[in-house]
Amino acid sequence: MKIIIVGASGTMGKYLVTAFEKEHEIIRVGSKSGDVQVDITSPEEIENLFKHVGPFDALISTAGPTYVGPWKKMTDKEFRKGVEGKMMGQINLVLIGQRYINPKGSFTLITGALTHEPQLNFANASAANGAVEGFVRAAAIELENGIRINAVSPTVIEDSPQYFPYFPGEIPTTMKQLEYGFRKSVFGANTGQVIKP
Ligand SMILES: NC(=O)c1ccc[n+]([C@@H]2O[C@H](COP(=O)([O-])OP(=O)(O)OC[C@H]3O[C@@H](n4cnc5c(N)ncnc54)[C@H](OP(=O)(O)O)[C@@H]3O)[C@@H](O)[C@H]2O)c1
Repeated sequence: MKIIIVGASGTMGKYLVTAFEKEHEIIRVGSKSGDVQVDITSPEEIENLFKHVGPFDALISTAGPTYVGPWKKMTDKEFRKGVEGKMMGQINLVLIGQRYINPKGSFTLITGALTHEPQLNFANASAANGAVEGFVRAAAIELENGIRINAVSPTVIEDSPQYFPYFPGEIPTTMKQLEYGFRKSVFGANTGQVIKP
């Protein structure tokens, strides 16, 4: 398969690239890194990505910038980081990418347990996740040509120990569990699902 991974240089992305690159053609994307540089907050840059890459079989997004910080410092400006990044960035990957993806292809977006289990400092991610999950369920009944869409929603992951103090009582998702959540979406048959690895 030809698989685009947006966020390929990140903690999740790096692991997924290593897991999938032996058997698949991987196109690595990031705003400052990868085979193609694309800022997902720009619809024009997203359009150029798909024009450049051509038809593909799967798109995985592990790019979802959000504001992480104290509630008291959060204003419209900070909140828009997640709205324009994790929410609209990922939604535009699908709205634009649906015109370039091969029939029976798939989109897999990233959300997170914060949708239903909020933690201090992460309100922006909770809200963006909820929007993306709603979009995934709605897009699944609209996409044509057998194209599927799912979200993967882990809690804090094994390779991000810097976040452990913010997630008291959460058993981290292992990188293997994360990988298999993405495998279920990309190589399985389900659509409109929020996969909790
Ligand atoms: N880490 C966790 O424990 C955890 C748990 C649950 C959910 N999540 C969610 O999973 C996502 C990924 O987490 P992570 O820890 O892997 O993040 P990360 O290590 O910070 O990596 C983020 C990746 O996204 C790319 N990126 C960032 N902003 C971008 C933009 N505007 N346009 C295009 N690419 C962009 C970065 O590449 P460039 O630097 O080149 O832009 C990088 O490859 C986030 O949305 C996070 O909320 C994380």
